[in-house]
Amino acid sequence: MRTEIDILENEILEKYPEVLDILLRDQTTQKNIIWATNNYEYFGESYLESKQIESELITGVNGDVIMPRVQKDQILQQSRIKNMAEVFTPSWICNAQNNLIDNAWFERKNVFNKEIPNQKKWKTNQERVEFPKNKSWRDYVNDKRLEISCGEAPYITSRYDTTTGKFIEIKNRIGLLDRKLRIINENVDDLNEWNEATKSAYKNTYAYEWQGDSLLLARESMLFTYIENYQYKFKKEPLIKSIQDIAEIISWNVWQMDGLKGVIPFSCGEIKTKKVNLFGEEETDNSFCKGCLNGNIFEHNGIYCLIMDWSSTGLKGKKIKFIDLLQNKHQSINGK
Ligand SMILES: C[S@@+](CC[C@H](N)C(=O)[O-])C[C@H]1O[C@@H](n2cnc3c(N)ncnc32)[C@H](O)[C@@H]1O
Repeated sequence: MRTEIDILENEILEKYPEVLDILLRDQTTQKNIIWATNNYEYFGESYLESKQIESELITGVNGDVIMPRVQKDQILQQSRIKNMAEVFTPSWICNAQNNLIDNAWFERKNVFNKEIPNQKKWKTNQERVEFPKNKSWRDYVNDKRLEISCGEAPYITSRYDTTTGKFIEIKNRIGLLDRKLRIINENVDDLNEWNEATKSAYKNTYAYEWQGDSLLLARESMLFTYIENYQYKFKKEPLIKSIQDIAEIISWNVWQMDGLKGVIPFSCGEIKTKKVNLFGEEETDNSFCKGCLNGNIFEHNGIYCLIMDWSSTGLKGKKIKFIDLLQNKHQSINGK
């Protein structure tokens, strides 16, 4: 199994047809995700923050353009802290916080591992996880989780510690998705059933992020988590169709958004409308984004992000606006 932390876009392009394009898709705009950071502008016009990340900009000779934060140089790291509050959480803290969720869900402590806080690590429990009387492993897999402002999504999957770059083996992973997959590995041996359960795990794991490069890294990490778990369980490679299906779910569930506005970054703006006045003269009416002026998340004129409610009765799920969840319009996602 590979243990490098930087997933290479060239490798995805060569080994997994169509998958990089799916991982770059923005399901709201039906275009690609945008850079939404000016860190790459010196490569040229196509790398301006408002431009889409096209596969040719990050593959071939450009294959090293996107790399995890831990491999970026110190000066760039500092500027990202200043501009985007980009500080990543060490895995042992992600573990401690994810444990709090599971303590509440299982109504007992140390379900997946035991924390060793003074050494900033944890010890994995090897025994199969037992479920409370009134709950099953399927309930756990189908329980929804969201990482807000996810960066490279260390709370979701812990392939590597985002602060040290250290690779973490499958059996010791602590992410919210890692835990769902551990439960599936422990309870399902049939390959088709495993694939279906795994799809449910991905459908019930959500995250959003502003910066396009981190978002792509988060999506890639989640995809490779699937491939690695499949290899771990079945000792072979998954079919390309299964990898594409998982990539499609990820491209919906891990989306690009300004979380303070609920819209695609930079999509709000001045709208100019032309009209003819009483004297037959053409006039331009400038209307600014109301939401940006008054801070009301429901009044932006930008592109509100869509996400997928997979639990809806339709075969393919139902598209909903993320901000509608804030108004309790969609009970199925917002709470049962
Ligand atoms: C402090 S980091 C946390 C990343 C990750 N959750 C972790 O704990 O390691 C903050 C992240 O929030 C993102 N961010 C900052 N402002 C944001 C906004 N308005 N909407 C969405 N993401 C934002 C940054 O790009 C950065 O990746």
